Amino acid sequence: MGLNTKLGVLASGRGSNFQAIQKEIEAGTLDAEIAVLISDRAQAPALEIAAAHGIDAHALPYDKNNREAFERAAGDLLEQAGCEWIVLAGFMRILTPYFINRFAGRILNIHPSLLPDFKGLHPQRQALEAGVKTSGCTVHLVTQDLDAGPIITQSEVPVLENDTEETLAARILVQEHRAYPEAIRILQKKREEG
Ligand code: GRF
Repeated sequence: MGLNTKLGVLASGRGSNFQAIQKEIEAGTLDAEIAVLISDRAQAPALEIAAAHGIDAHALPYDKNNREAFERAAGDLLEQAGCEWIVLAGFMRILTPYFINRFAGRILNIHPSLLPDFKGLHPQRQALEAGVKTSGCTVHLVTQDLDAGPIITQSEVPVLENDTEETLAARILVQEHRAYPEAIRILQKKREEG
């Protein structure tokens, strides 16, 4: 295919979605490269995973009173690395219009609900409280409106009678790890078709 898609990842924590994408790249099922990983938390396990895979990784200081400072530094690193798409993988900060405009239409996010249901924090808890029988995850493009950009792909899971927030989150996470690489393939295909 020779798509040679360069990805930049923003992650705040565990990094399992990032790891799932990297696994598919290494397995040859996703024709891409993670050119850089950036975290707002120096202790994020995602940084260690990146180092273990030889991925250029940076922890940048995050000041909630000056969010643009982080975003400018991150944006410069992403541009220098030639990233085509920016993948938010458990990045727990809200991006400002500055960053969203700088990379307009090129930022992806994954959310553990079937959007437009259960936006924002604790979507698995929201799903249990609403009593829905099906939930899942959504990969979407990031726009100014929280969790409301164009949907690329969704994956469903059943909500079971005895589910807790943890058991439902774990079932959804398995789907997240499939859906994120799939969303990137969908975008690549769209780009190829022009
Ligand atoms: C995932 O459930 C993701 O959907 C949400 O935060 C979690 C991040 O997990 N936005 P990980 O850091 O990718 O393991």
